[in-house]
Amino acid sequence: MFNKEIYITRRKKLRNEITSGIGLFLGNVDAAFNYPANTYSFRQDSHFLYFFGLNHPGFAGVINFDNNTDMIFANDVDIEDIIWMGNQPTVKDMASKVGIEHTAPYRELASYLHSAISQGQKIHFLPAYRGETMIELSKLLNLNIDKLKGEASVELIKAVVKLKEIKEEVEIAEIEKAIDIAYLMHTTSMKMAKPGMVEQEIAGTIEGISLALGGPVSFPIILSQDGQTLHNHDHSKVLKEGRMMVTDAGAETQENYCSDITRTVPVGGKFNKRQAGIYQVVLDANMAAIAAIKPGIKYREVHFLACRTIVDGLKELGLMKGDTQAAIDARAHTLFMPHGLGHMMGMDVHDMEGLGENYVGYDVHTKRATEFGNAYLRLGKELKPGMVLTVEPGIYFIPALIDQYRKEGTFDEFINFDLAETYKDFGGIRIEDDVLVTENSHRVLGKPIPKTIAEIERTMAELREWIKWEGFI
Ligand code: GLY
Ligand code: MN
Ligand code: MN
Repeated sequence: MFNKEIYITRRKKLRNEITSGIGLFLGNVDAAFNYPANTYSFRQDSHFLYFFGLNHPGFAGVINFDNNTDMIFANDVDIEDIIWMGNQPTVKDMASKVGIEHTAPYRELASYLHSAISQGQKIHFLPAYRGETMIELSKLLNLNIDKLKGEASVELIKAVVKLKEIKEEVEIAEIEKAIDIAYLMHTTSMKMAKPGMVEQEIAGTIEGISLALGGPVSFPIILSQDGQTLHNHDHSKVLKEGRMMVTDAGAETQENYCSDITRTVPVGGKFNKRQAGIYQVVLDANMAAIAAIKPGIKYREVHFLACRTIVDGLKELGLMKGDTQAAIDARAHTLFMPHGLGHMMGMDVHDMEGLGENYVGYDVHTKRATEFGNAYLRLGKELKPGMVLTVEPGIYFIPALIDQYRKEGTFDEFINFDLAETYKDFGGIRIEDDVLVTENSHRVLGKPIPKTIAEIERTMAELREWIKWEGFI
């Protein structure tokens, strides 16, 4: 938990955005894994954490915009809880650590809200993403569960996005901690990527590094020699010489801030000519995009700069042809990079995505595209100092997409399909970094993780001596 002034200031800033009604922030409850008493590791709701900081299940926070009171509704532990969990501080003590004096047992929340509603106060709440929260909101507000989404407060969503998209110093420091954990995860993954290893041996090892050094992984690990599948969570393959292995993985810190890093390496540690060619194009796109990041530029422009770098590079390799801008306008590049350049990052790895991507990544000045490929860009709007975002270009050889685009015949002017056919066994390459927009420019966050061909080959040649899993899988 941060210093209480941080939470007091955040709630004060929210009051400047919303002048009337009540802000209701339900924290998460424990979620059952396979039976009620066997739960997933607890993960608090990120918005509750941001404004109220308390990392315990069953808490609700209220900000009364009409009378300047903030409240925590939660139950003190009873003797049964103490037997199983040990002594716990009182709710009052916990609330005082985040600058809140007023507390009440959780059961009083419903009557508090009903009395507010009967006095004409609007209850502002954010879109819920867990079944338990939806049921609770529905009960508390006497709203049909199907109506909840439509009744979420757009005013509150916009205010929360406005505050949370600009990261404070303490948040940037946490994100850098998460990236430093990712450094160890990724360099370990590189060193383990030897022919004969099962992907799961590596994925499990690096997930353990996250748990050992911070918290859980920030999203399910993507680790595969079939990197052409963008979010590949299958880890069953045995690594083979001649293939590339994508590792897209990040950690959460104890304060629940994330990292989201991707590295792609040649199984066995040496790039062959074909791999080096494609890798260098993705790296050039990653570096060109990072170099362009500064306040005032729209991230959509940075996305298309990365796409142009990819088209130019693929033209040099003979995989694409024709005029670069015309190819982009026709969306021919989406054969190779069908996704967006990146997204914001914070306590959620796709920060605030649950509030609605268009509220986070777009605004009145930047409307989201609707066509295949371009529509997948999660962040398009103008960048501001304090934003933290990912830069994650990639090139993928997706056999089904090559077949489809070839059959459609739309892109013959821009794509050398005969050559693309020979890459159907290649897989994919993605390179992802986490970047802060500074006052005039940008800063790649965290300890630099090997990224150039030389750095990766050097790292992969280093011995990993401290762990051996042989015989377990
Ligand atoms: N970890 C998924 C992504 O890079 O957005
Ligand atoms: Mn990622
Ligand atoms: Mn990402």
